[in-house]
Amino acid sequence: MERVSVGLLGLGTVGTGVARLLVEEADRIARRSGRAIDLKWVVVRDPHKKRGVELPNARIVTDVRRVLDDPEVEVVIETMGGIHPTLETVLEALAAKKDVVTANKALLAEHGTTVFGQARKYGRAVAFEASVGGGIPIVQALGVSLAANQVQSLAAIVNGTCNFILTAMTREGTPYESALRKAQELGYAEADPTMDVDGTDTAHKLAVLAQLAFEANIKTAQIPRQGIDRLQTADIRYAGELGYVVKLLALAKLSEFGLELRVAPTLVKKGTPLADVSGPYNAIRVVGDAVGDTLFYGRGAGMMPTASAVVGDLVDVVSGRTAVTFRTLNLWSESKPVPKLTPPSAVHSRYYLRFMIADRPGVLASLATVLGTKGISIASVIQHDPGDDEPAGSPVPLVIMTHMAAEAGIRAALDEIDGLGVVHAPSVCLGVEE
Ligand code: NAP
Ligand code: HSE
Repeated sequence: MERVSVGLLGLGTVGTGVARLLVEEADRIARRSGRAIDLKWVVVRDPHKKRGVELPNARIVTDVRRVLDDPEVEVVIETMGGIHPTLETVLEALAAKKDVVTANKALLAEHGTTVFGQARKYGRAVAFEASVGGGIPIVQALGVSLAANQVQSLAAIVNGTCNFILTAMTREGTPYESALRKAQELGYAEADPTMDVDGTDTAHKLAVLAQLAFEANIKTAQIPRQGIDRLQTADIRYAGELGYVVKLLALAKLSEFGLELRVAPTLVKKGTPLADVSGPYNAIRVVGDAVGDTLFYGRGAGMMPTASAVVGDLVDVVSGRTAVTFRTLNLWSESKPVPKLTPPSAVHSRYYLRFMIADRPGVLASLATVLGTKGISIASVIQHDPGDDEPAGSPVPLVIMTHMAAEAGIRAALDEIDGLGVVHAPSVCLGVEE
């Protein structure tokens, strides 16, 4: 059988999984690719580190030039992560006429136009299934299988680390810090886990999804985002009392006002499919005009699920399929129109609000008056007694669920309420996804 030489950049969580599949499943992968894969070079930072895979035929090196300057290498698999020097390395690989497979959503979200422009210039392809949803084939689904549709909306849980933390906090009452440590040990988190918990990783993935679903060149900075790093356990508990779980959602909706994008911890009704997505699992709900409602579900982070997507891409590249979809999809093209983003005044949702209020007569009425003057209708109210160990006179939590309201009105009302002198600011505001 004909052979193809491949260079692997990075042998961490994802790279190790990729190497394992290439060694242990070599026959099946060769059958499906039509060529035997020869993993020739593996590039790492520390050549002395103990690795979780035996590589009898590959050479472990620290210099990317070994891959870039080897004319036999036809495909570079990038699992190093980060932006620099990864961007420069990927651009050089493409200029050296090598196709690239990457799991790096940060690179695509921030430099997709440069990377894809370079690939087009040199007639090469870039495959990136593992960049969103780990092992879930969502890139293939949006780029190919749902091509007949205008996607109308997306609602997605796409950060395994955050979903793992929220599940542990909700179900076992695990403290945030220890749940995050466990997610890091299990290989779900980014090298810098701040990217996970502050919503940046989810925003990167939403930028990639928006490219595929709406042909929209979106910069991460254009996506309003909030992470789970400032979420309080009390809000997870009160949401539970109201029949909701809190999930970090990536949301995209197309309407007459434009494309609405956001990343935020959001209340999701218990018993709905997204509410039941737990641990490192991800799910992406896609509504298309022809297909209607669809849901893609699976492991969104971790070694082998991610490696499954990377090696699937490698098979597609080697078999020649990627070249066709790469050309026809024409992603991250400079020629695509700049999308019109929905202004905050046109964003509507139900909202969960929590105020820490002085427990005395008239306070609830003053809050309700502000909400009323901004056109916000209250659906339900819960006021909790202070805890037994709280000193007398401590502020008490007041939780309000609104009916559908304009975000602009909610923001104006919160500013006014936080200035009233009867609440201990800042108040909490979370959107609700029914
Ligand atoms: P990781 O465990 O930190 O592994 C990174 C690997 O790259 C390490 O082997 C490291 O070498 C090597 N490396 C980093 N910088 C290098 C440089 N300048 N030169 C040479 N080698 C370098 O990261 P990971 O979790 O596998 O993630 C890799 C990529 O996959 C990231 O883009 C991430 O966003 C993406 N991703 C990860 C997951 C996941 O579940 N972890 C899922 C989907 C996508 P040493 O081992 O010598 O330090
Ligand atoms: N850090 C990412 C996550 C890896 O937790 O989802 C998968 O992209």
